[in-house]
Amino acid sequence: MSNVALEQNKAFLRRVSLFASLSEAQFDQLAAGSVRRNFPKGRTIVAEGEPSQSLYILLSGRAKVQRSDSEGKEVILAVLGSGECFGEMSLIDDAPRSASVITLESCDFMAINKDSFKAMLMQNNEMCMAVMKGLVRRLREADKKIETLALLDVYGRVARVLLDFSEMQGGERIIRTKLPRQEIAKMIGASREMVSRVMKGLEIDGYIVPMPEGRLLLREKISAYLN
Ligand code: CMP
Repeated sequence: MSNVALEQNKAFLRRVSLFASLSEAQFDQLAAGSVRRNFPKGRTIVAEGEPSQSLYILLSGRAKVQRSDSEGKEVILAVLGSGECFGEMSLIDDAPRSASVITLESCDFMAINKDSFKAMLMQNNEMCMAVMKGLVRRLREADKKIETLALLDVYGRVARVLLDFSEMQGGERIIRTKLPRQEIAKMIGASREMVSRVMKGLEIDGYIVPMPEGRLLLREKISAYLN
């Protein structure tokens, strides 16, 4: 790897909170075992059930974490954004990949070689702690999802997803990128038709307001569906 590529890799790795505790020598080691990749929308980066080679860091773009059954029915476990890492689970327990990760748009990644990552974990307690924090955060989110699926009706589940994907912008709660009904359906275990019906109902009753370019405005009263 050229010096320029090595320095570029280090610059990207420095921005990742997981690696905040690494020393300069450790950054050199990790950067040497890393490659930058770009993948177009719809590309499977890791495939459920396959052996693992690398840990990935999403530098830009969004990707979904998905599992499917033998009939091809799919459930979306999470949507990952820039700065998040994935592929650590099978590196830690040496089991096959627990889920597939598929790009939702063009994405830039850093792929870190399995052995470099494991060596780094062995040398650095703070990095172990950061990885554990990431896993605990994911468990908390999974707990919240189990609660949503077990206790809320389909209106509540849709409202939960919409709120999770929204952000405050100029005092208004907005979903900035198009969230296809099919994707919502896969997140909450409902059919696309059912999600379309619920979204229509929410729109007619003024809980959501469609905006240009697939954006969506959420009215605060939509939170009432979570009770
Ligand atoms: P791994 O099992 O190696 O490959 C698939 C990856 O998807 C997994 O590591 C995690 O990084 C990620 N993943 C699995 N389940 C979830 C989840 N519930 N939320 C977010 N990411 C997940």
